[in-house]
Amino acid sequence: MRFHVIHAHPVETSFNRSLFHIACEALEAAGHEVDALNLYEENFDAVMSREERLNYHNVPDNITDRLRPYVDRLLAAEGIVFVHPVWNFGYPAILKGYFDRVFMPGVSFEMSEGTENGRLLPKLTKIKRAAFVTTYGGTRWRSMIMGDPPRLLAGRWAWVTFRKAPRPKYLALYDMNNNSEERLKAFQEKVRRELSAF
Ligand SMILES: Cc1cc2nc3c(=O)[nH]c(=O)nc-3n(C[C@H](O)[C@H](O)[C@H](O)COP(=O)(O)O)c2cc1C
Repeated sequence: MRFHVIHAHPVETSFNRSLFHIACEALEAAGHEVDALNLYEENFDAVMSREERLNYHNVPDNITDRLRPYVDRLLAAEGIVFVHPVWNFGYPAILKGYFDRVFMPGVSFEMSEGTENGRLLPKLTKIKRAAFVTTYGGTRWRSMIMGDPPRLLAGRWAWVTFRKAPRPKYLALYDMNNNSEERLKAFQEKVRRELSAF
């Protein structure tokens, strides 16, 4: 399968970046083709412009020359993996901006016209596997009190968005600041194991 692995962490020596490399390696070792997208390295612009917002529903002209490469890479994917830390109980801005700008009408969904007025129809039907690999500073309990939005989004929004895939795999390490070397290593191995068999 062709996997698109999308990463959002600015620091090359971070634990999160190590998970990105492990995810890519594990998928490649399992015989998959990997298209790795490091949003920071590619200087992805997270900010939706005025023109983009005005043209948002203007299919297919909403895909500008700047967005076209990201859209093509997304549309070529048969599997998708996101590797990111949790910031302010959500995605880092660069990943949120990627969703805002690339997951647009005509790409990740379309609005049905006529009989089902205004209904959203998911369009990324080529994607048969989805996963999130993520790390939190907070404990599972503390995150749960806040509703754990990234976990909720993976289980609901992403499940609907990647409707031809089973419920997205959610590999999360909580309580980052209190984890021992052993637990960090164990999580890296878990990510390798799970994605090798994905
Ligand atoms: C800007 C920022 C916001 C953060 N917000 C949260 C948060 O809301 N909840 C949480 O559990 N951890 C939060 N953290 C902690 C990160 O999730 C944690 O540093 C990261 O997962 C560890 O990965 P790293 O060491 O590879 O950066 C935040 C960290 C930063 C830098």
